[in-house]
Amino acid sequence: MYIAHTIAELRDHLAAFKRPAFVPTMGNLHDGHLALVKQAKPLGDVTVASIFVNRLQFLPHEDFDTYPRTWDSDCEKLSAAGCDVLFAPDEKALYPEPQTCKVHPDPALADILEGHFRPGFFIGVCTVVMKLFTCVQPRVAVFGKKDYQQLMMIRHMVRQFALPIEIEGGETFRADDGLALSSRNGYLSKDERAEAVQLSKTLQAMAEAVRAGERDLAAIEARAMQTLAQRGWQPDYLVLRRRADLQAPAVGEPLVALAAARLGTTRLIDNLEIEAPSAL
Ligand code: PAF
Repeated sequence: MYIAHTIAELRDHLAAFKRPAFVPTMGNLHDGHLALVKQAKPLGDVTVASIFVNRLQFLPHEDFDTYPRTWDSDCEKLSAAGCDVLFAPDEKALYPEPQTCKVHPDPALADILEGHFRPGFFIGVCTVVMKLFTCVQPRVAVFGKKDYQQLMMIRHMVRQFALPIEIEGGETFRADDGLALSSRNGYLSKDERAEAVQLSKTLQAMAEAVRAGERDLAAIEARAMQTLAQRGWQPDYLVLRRRADLQAPAVGEPLVALAAARLGTTRLIDNLEIEAPSAL
């Protein structure tokens, strides 16, 4: 696996390829990331991953400084998963001057849910992804569906700027008990890790209520919030939205349940696409 630390090294190395397939990450890689790399592999003539913990997408009180950085094991895992090129710039290499020119995604999508609770988060994400795209110039890029709103935002940005990049979504990778894999799961204590499965269980319960034909979506959401709050979580949101734009759904539209909640000091997110019964 070739490792590029600067944009110039990356561009030199990629000049020989026509169809890079790209997986951007912030490192601390788990099987979910590696599944994205494996998904990317047959889609291009060279598989590129990046590791860059992007300060722009963290609020001042968030975990930028403590975000787990696990360079050696990340390199081993990427190499074993068949990654050909790793782009790992430091902050000076990617942001040689303050990144004052930023991508401001559509507020209708960027300021709700994650964007509401983490103001500016999607400006940081879209800005770094745009910059990584101009460095790697991929033909295809793979993003996990676990970050459902992020994936939608990137698709929208790519469409609006007519970037010649296909965006693929990768299925959420789950532990045996159903907990979605996330770098932040490493923050959980043993007891919290056992409790954490309740997030996906609550999403499942929301899906079951919808499938059973319950029509009062607000009541399903309120029940889910209450379930987690009673177990000691601090939920930010548990909502049922239409998949097309994450707004309130009309009757019969395909739904997704989305959740964000804090367990102790760890904030977890998850989501579940729901097949609505035709009667709904
Ligand atoms: O999903 C992530 O890990 C990050 O938001 C991304 C897409 C690598 C941008 O920093």
